[in-house]
Amino acid sequence: MVGNISIQHVRKEFVNQDSTQENIVALNDFTIDIQPGEFVSLIGPSGCGKSTLLRLIGGLEHPNSGSIVLDGKEIKKPGSDRGFAFQGSNLFPWLTVEQNISFGLKARHIYKDHKKDVQDFINLIGLNGFEKSYPHQLSGGMNQRASLARALVGHPKVLLLDEPLGALDAFTRMNLQDEILKIWQQHGMTMIMVTHDVDEAIYMSDKVVVMSARPSKVEAVIDIDLPRPRARAQDTFQVYRSKILDILNLGGDIATIDYQI
Ligand SMILES: Nc1ncnc2c1ncn2[C@@H]1O[C@H](COP(=O)(O)OP(=O)(O)OP(=O)(O)O)[C@@H](O)[C@H]1O
Ligand SMILES: [Mg+2]
Repeated sequence: MVGNISIQHVRKEFVNQDSTQENIVALNDFTIDIQPGEFVSLIGPSGCGKSTLLRLIGGLEHPNSGSIVLDGKEIKKPGSDRGFAFQGSNLFPWLTVEQNISFGLKARHIYKDHKKDVQDFINLIGLNGFEKSYPHQLSGGMNQRASLARALVGHPKVLLLDEPLGALDAFTRMNLQDEILKIWQQHGMTMIMVTHDVDEAIYMSDKVVVMSARPSKVEAVIDIDLPRPRARAQDTFQVYRSKILDILNLGGDIATIDYQI
């Protein structure tokens, strides 16, 4: 299986152009190993560096020191082996659902061979009948689904999801959680998902990585040792929930921690 990610002692510092302001150290000595096909959630206070970590794995940013290695090769730039669904809706507003989903394939000149995949993913995410719709004609949940399909259509080894279900109502969110799990189980890629929702992390993940406040490092890695499919009302959820919340609170002053449940 492919999709092994080794992150070793990564430091990421953003230089502030305004010399009166301090540089921001987002990540410091950040180390973690992610196994092929694993579902990993990242959870931590707002501004701690979760999106930055995904951007580093995506090859959109570079660490100041340390290394990020995917299947034995250091990540230096973006690649089709990694799919990315960014925080918030990231569809091109001037393109239809179908055009948005096919965009990457066309850019890589492989659209002809994968034309059928575009329709398959549209079916999988339940957007049939909306192929010709523009993003503004879709609901928030439908936009999120289309973003997901766009990230998936190139069959990446690794899927990077930055709060893919943020700002959705609870019912749509639960449905999409199950759809993401279904896609993950069908395609077997490595999943790295940022979430602010502790229950969502427990419901979906093999492993929950709790990040500390900035400069962020790995505060704890919690293996979610529950069989799948998981029942949302399981008593054991409570044990994991308390553990994760305790760790988040221990990471700093409780009043400064900003996450939603
Ligand atoms: N391009 C950039 N230039 C300067 N600073 C940046 C840049 N990108 C991120 N930062 C800073 O790095 C820190 C981490 O940002 P990041 O977006 O990774 O946080 P996050 O954990 O994803 O937060 P949230 O949960 O609110 O999405 C923040 O203090 C942010 O201001
Ligand atoms: Mg973020």
